[in-house]
Amino acid sequence: MENRRCFFKKSAIIVSVAAFPVLPSCITLNTIEAQVPLKSKEIKNAAVLWYSQSGNTEKCGKVLAKTLEKKGIKVVYGDLRDIDKSIVSNVDLIVIGSPVFYYDTPEFVKDFIESLPELNGIPVAAYVTFGGPEGNQHNAGCSILEGLVQKKSVPVGLESFMSISSYSLSFKENDISITTKQNTILPDQNTYKKVREYAEFILSQVEKGSTSKFKRTLTLREFSTYFGPEWWTKLTVDNHHIIEQNCVGCEACVKKCPTDSIDLDSFSVNTDSCVLCFGCINNCQYQAVNMESNNTKLIGFHEYMEKNNFKFVLPNELKT
Ligand SMILES: Cc1cc2nc3c(=O)[nH]c(=O)nc-3n(C[C@H](O)[C@H](O)[C@H](O)COP(=O)(O)O)c2cc1C
Ligand code: SF4
Ligand code: SF4
Repeated sequence: MENRRCFFKKSAIIVSVAAFPVLPSCITLNTIEAQVPLKSKEIKNAAVLWYSQSGNTEKCGKVLAKTLEKKGIKVVYGDLRDIDKSIVSNVDLIVIGSPVFYYDTPEFVKDFIESLPELNGIPVAAYVTFGGPEGNQHNAGCSILEGLVQKKSVPVGLESFMSISSYSLSFKENDISITTKQNTILPDQNTYKKVREYAEFILSQVEKGSTSKFKRTLTLREFSTYFGPEWWTKLTVDNHHIIEQNCVGCEACVKKCPTDSIDLDSFSVNTDSCVLCFGCINNCQYQAVNMESNNTKLIGFHEYMEKNNFKFVLPNELKT
């Protein structure tokens, strides 16, 4: 079994490395632009929705929503899993935020966008948070806008905000992201400032009636997404289950799991449907989610933050 895993791993690496020299750096794969006219230049109400597994995208979304509120706009905001989808067709602006997972927007977010009603010229903006310097963040943001444009909306903005990585596989070997190497936990006050500026930019775009074009470009990381990196990575993770003695039944893992793969009655995880988002291990405060790689137990985001004495930086808007 170990040999088969090694073979798949090595094959994936060889395919990616072999492809590297033949990939031109700046080929446009497609252009994302409005297919319908802008509904209105006036924004009275807006929806700011995000998908967030460990809180980075959520904090940025809240800052964005609060900035819009300060401009007198009525804003509905929250995790897209908790929002009544019907509200989005009745707002004057929609902003959707997502983390970058495996060089792209998670399927869960794409499915959510696909399930939305037609948006009839509503201006839309996207943002992503990401943990690695070359995480294909621009193209991941393009995935959000692509889905929204298919719903007949009008793209006005796309931005990315670097954040602490929540990729649990990198915690175990202390291969921490550039954000922590620089001894700064992102998002920080500077990031939140950029988020506020982005909110202002979105508003000015709509007020001017300026729509934007975005180009998805061919990059090595984009190329990797076609090989389903999460499925390859799954070959390196073993023994994924819930540790009965540690589990207090709080259901935080179940709520975060985008694929309903956790069964707390049998303390098991359906590893076929699991998409290895680490939402379970990253949100369990009791070290009750077991995942192993190379016979070493992985640690979750809480444990990682505590062990390193890392503290989140809260935006002023969220300080009580
Ligand atoms: C499963 C998984 C895959 C990830 N893949 C990438 C990636 O391809 N590129 C990147 O820059 N960051 C990647 N990250 C880091 C996250 O994008 C980053 O930590 C993000 O801010 C998490 O957002 P959240 O706290 O709202 O969940 C990944 C994290 C996880 C958990
Ligand atoms: S988050 Fe942890 S403690 Fe809570 S139900 Fe899941 S495994 Fe159990
Ligand atoms: S079981 Fe898999 S899909 Fe579900 S939260 Fe855990 S890692 Fe994500």
